[in-house]
Amino acid sequence: MAKQLLGSALVGCGSATPKQSLTNAQLGQRVDTNDSWIRSRTGIASRCVLGSDESLVELSHMASAKALKMAGWEPGSVDLIVMATSTPDDLFGSAPQVQSLLGANNAFAFDLTAACSGFLFALVTATQFLKSGSIKRALVIGADQLSRWVDWDDRRTCVLFGDGAGAVALEAVDQKDEGLIDFSLKSDGSRGDSLQLRQVIKHLPLVDGTTHQQGGFTSIEMNGQEVYKFAVREVPSVLAELLKRNNVIAEELDWLLLHQANQRILDAVADRFQVPHHKVLTNLQSYGNTSAATIPLMLDEAVRDGRVKPGDLIATSGFGAGLSWGAALINWHGPS
Ligand code: UT7
Repeated sequence: MAKQLLGSALVGCGSATPKQSLTNAQLGQRVDTNDSWIRSRTGIASRCVLGSDESLVELSHMASAKALKMAGWEPGSVDLIVMATSTPDDLFGSAPQVQSLLGANNAFAFDLTAACSGFLFALVTATQFLKSGSIKRALVIGADQLSRWVDWDDRRTCVLFGDGAGAVALEAVDQKDEGLIDFSLKSDGSRGDSLQLRQVIKHLPLVDGTTHQQGGFTSIEMNGQEVYKFAVREVPSVLAELLKRNNVIAEELDWLLLHQANQRILDAVADRFQVPHHKVLTNLQSYGNTSAATIPLMLDEAVRDGRVKPGDLIATSGFGAGLSWGAALINWHGPS
């Protein structure tokens, strides 16, 4: 194993969303809501929901295949696949199924759970393997299917979420070409009850004098106002810490790429740093909050339509259940 310290470059990206798109007006057929409330409180106009012939593994495979194609990699050259998801097709892990569909036969693959911060946590995790010199190529996926876990009769939550997958190809490079310039990750489990997908447990008799537990999970439960306050307090704080540590001023940023939870949160963070709104990447109007997928989904769209160019400096931040949150300073490298 090589011991030199390396950097990791973001050299490809891809994304995929379900075929079904559901407008705010359509949701109004199910719960007591309307387009005007949802748009004004969240910025969301529609979201994609997995249909009966689709799966999260398939979406993740599609996103990953596009990232590999952009990077110009053969599947067999990938060493590691980290799939950030809180909603896998298989609780034992979905990443190995993506590995198999891709034909990435030399990669080890595992899931990582950090809810809406998952992509950021996975990006940092994969980068540590690359920087150690133990691997050369990694694929980081952010993918979620919250539609499976939302209570479709709870208007306070069901209007917010959607399904999707995004992926980024990371390559070991010289330290001078480092793509993940710096990061800061945080967790606070003591506030975890403001956004939960709790287990439901039944205690059943096993054999004389013993019991076992059995059960599943509830639907998503959220205290929206608490999560909102958490986001507008902690995201600016962690971003400010990162900018200061790296002697970067907000004007030097090409893009602000935040977890796409609510347009009002994006606007509040942008205003705090006086980042003009044309530098704030946003696509939540079309997809809603796709949890771990929002950041790579947005990055992929902006790279493919030419907004994000090689060398662009991006400040990104993820936040959500756990509670977990964090930020990173990234240089988009693009394919060599
Ligand atoms: O990845 C992180 C995921 N979570 C988040 O990002 C959530 C962060 N929080 C938020 O985005 C906002 O708190 C929400 C969008 C969830 C809610 O917006 P709000 O401005 O905090 O609304 P609220 O909860 O204070 O509710 C205001 C009113 C209430 O009615 P009353 O009690 O004032 O009569 C709600 O019952 O709006 C009502 N309401 C709705 N009305 C129409 C709540 N949901 C809806 C709805 N349609 N979908």
